[in-house]
Amino acid sequence: MRFDVLTLFPEMIETYCSFSILKRARDADLINVNTLNPRDFSLDKHKKVDDTPYGGGSGMVLAPQPFVDAWEAVGKCENSITVMLTPQGEPLNEKIVRELAGFDQIVMLCGHYEGFDERIRQIIKPREISVGDFVLTGGELPALCLMDAVSRKVEGTINSAHDDSHANGMLEYPHYTKPREYRGLLVPDVLLSGNHKEIEQYRREQSLIRTRERRPDLLG
Ligand SMILES: C[S@@+](CC[C@H](N)C(=O)[O-])C[C@H]1O[C@@H](n2cnc3c(N)ncnc32)[C@H](O)[C@@H]1O
Repeated sequence: MRFDVLTLFPEMIETYCSFSILKRARDADLINVNTLNPRDFSLDKHKKVDDTPYGGGSGMVLAPQPFVDAWEAVGKCENSITVMLTPQGEPLNEKIVRELAGFDQIVMLCGHYEGFDERIRQIIKPREISVGDFVLTGGELPALCLMDAVSRKVEGTINSAHDDSHANGMLEYPHYTKPREYRGLLVPDVLLSGNHKEIEQYRREQSLIRTRERRPDLLG
C-alpha cells in the first residue's frame, strides 16, 4: 500500500510514521509513505500557497495552482484513489477504511487555514472524508488517522485485528494483564482458568454487553 500525502507540513506526517507499528510496516515495505509539499510547486515568486478570499471574510484560502500541480506530479498506479480531508466529507468509519484498503495507492490532500479553493475539488474530484463533526486546524491529523487505520488492514502489519472494536460490528471485550490484583481490583477468574472455550464465551458476552451499553446503534 502506497500513501502520498500532499501537505504544507510534511514533518508532521514523517514524524508520526517514524514510530511504532507504522515504522515497522515501512521498514518491512508493507507500506510506503511519501510526502509532497505544494509549496514546492508554487509558481509565485515568494512560494505563496494561499491568498485572501474573494467576497471578503477572514482567513486565507489555499490557492488551486500549487495543489493541483503537486497532485498532478504524483505518479499514480491504476488502482489509486485521491482523498481530500475535510470536515465537509463523509464521516470516516470501519466500512470506509476497508474500502480504502482495497486500493494500492491513496493520495491525500491536507488542507489548512480556511481550506481549499473550490476549484481544487472540481479539478481533482477527490473522495471527501471527515474524521468527525468538529474542525481541526489542518488535515494532517485526519490523514494520519486514515493512514494508520488503513495500514492495520494491510496483511502483515499487525498480528491480529479480528477481535478489535468495529472489526465485526461490535466493541471489543475488556483486557487485563499482570498483576492479578491491582488496588484491590481482580482479574476475572475465567481468564486465569486456562479453559479456552469458557474464555472465548466470556469475551463474546463482554463484547455484547459493552456494545449494548456504549453503542447500541451498532447492534441495529
Ligand atoms: C480550519 S479547517 C477548514 C475548515 C473549513 N473552513 C470549513 O468550515 O469547512 C482546515 C483544514 O483542516 C482539515 N480538517 C479540519 N477539520 C477536519 C475534519 N473534521 N476532518 C477532516 N479534515 C479536517 C481540512 O483539511 C481543512 O481544509
